[in-house]
Amino acid sequence: MAEYILSIDQGTTVTRAFIIDRQGNYISTASQSFEQKTPQAGWIEQDPNAIWQSVRAVILKVITRSGLSYHQIKALGITNQRETTIIWDRKTGEPIYNAIVWSSNQSLAIINELKKEDLENYIHENTGLVLSPYFSASKIRWILDYHPDFQKRAERGELAFGTVDSWLIWKLTNGQQHATDHTNASRTMLFNIHTLKWDDYLLNTFNIPKEILPDVYPSSHLYALTSADLFNGARIPIAGVAGNQQATLFGQLAFQSGQVKSTYGQGTFIVMNTGFEPKFSKHKLLTTIGYSIGDNITYALEGSALISGSAIEWLKDGLNLFESMEESESLALRATKSSDVYVVPAFRGIGAPYWDSNVRGAVLGIDETTSRSELIRATLESLAYQVSDVITLMESDTNITVDILHVDGGAAQNNLLIQYQADILGKTVKRVERLETTGLGAAYLAGLAVGYWTNLNELTALVSENEQFEPNFSSEERRLKLHGWHSAIKAIRYYAG
Ligand code: G3P
Repeated sequence: MAEYILSIDQGTTVTRAFIIDRQGNYISTASQSFEQKTPQAGWIEQDPNAIWQSVRAVILKVITRSGLSYHQIKALGITNQRETTIIWDRKTGEPIYNAIVWSSNQSLAIINELKKEDLENYIHENTGLVLSPYFSASKIRWILDYHPDFQKRAERGELAFGTVDSWLIWKLTNGQQHATDHTNASRTMLFNIHTLKWDDYLLNTFNIPKEILPDVYPSSHLYALTSADLFNGARIPIAGVAGNQQATLFGQLAFQSGQVKSTYGQGTFIVMNTGFEPKFSKHKLLTTIGYSIGDNITYALEGSALISGSAIEWLKDGLNLFESMEESESLALRATKSSDVYVVPAFRGIGAPYWDSNVRGAVLGIDETTSRSELIRATLESLAYQVSDVITLMESDTNITVDILHVDGGAAQNNLLIQYQADILGKTVKRVERLETTGLGAAYLAGLAVGYWTNLNELTALVSENEQFEPNFSSEERRLKLHGWHSAIKAIRYYAG
């Protein structure tokens, strides 16, 4: 009987499942969205049980659609929205609060109270991150402060913390395994990326008891077998775990130092493989763990544009400017190309390299000829500007010249966006045929751990078709457009005071 790899991609708004064969082809796919809760402006939460139910539902769907039996699944890979924080009761398995989503700002006051140069330097040198509510540490603190009993229960070892991967491993093993991988741990702001251990100084600073933390393992590793009652008696090895941006780097087969990918999802995340040594940015890019196999840790540099796909959703659902993503592209194609409209989608602050949670977005440069076409085009262009800024800084931080940018993710379907990305970067952009590289990355990690694939060379041979976009702008055009963008950023920062 032929064997396959099952991969779960638990993203911010959608949960997906894929069954993948030895050639890296998708045999079957399924997806399901779930509820986003916004109890207050700037707060974003999810029900952890709804996340789990969506995972169960997509696994059932993908297996049914494929006509396979669970016994044909050689291994399971998990990739997930990162930083999103869940705390649950170890005995009952029930969450004590909603999942606080990575982009939620509800723990901003905790971060603001801690802002001191010494601590910021310590965080950067040891976790590779910047002091921000984006990462899990202040979200854990926020939940433990939510009820007077929570801290004591955490200290008594009654509670467990996890990012979404840990939560799913817990559920899939019926509470037998409380674990995470190096990539997810590296996004908590509590994990020392040099020693590969939880950092006592930071745990102390945030007053987070060690008892709640998961064990940390490599991304490609035999974690546990799924519980027998879940999949008709089949016990599937959970063998690959990685945060979704790192899984995408792996799925893009970017195994060489200097290779870069950009994924256009709710945010846009640009990640560069920097090899076996961590490289630190002078421009507030993040140093993070790219993936780990056995004792080999591959580090990465990351720039995060926190709002991008969600800005397109705002145009669609908030302003009702169009009904489908295809329509957005055709409307944007009608825009006056020379328009100097800039949209800065800083809905809840801006990420790299500014990391300013206090600013808000703006639309600049409109006149009476500005129509929805210009607004849509300017929003798409804002995605490309953010990526271009990050890549310029990556080049300066690493002394590596990026020749090719590999792109994927939902919004990468948009030809206008990807062509503009090439134009504004002045570099070749390659778009993979299979845009769902995240799920592929988790499958590859799982398959490697169980010998389904034997090594990275075997994976490199699986490369799918690429479409190539070449830059058309003159350097003067590029300079002027980027100047306008940077002036728009200055304007919103000035306005925020
Ligand atoms: O760091 C947040 C990131 O993991 C979210 O990714 O694709 O679910 O928006 P996505």
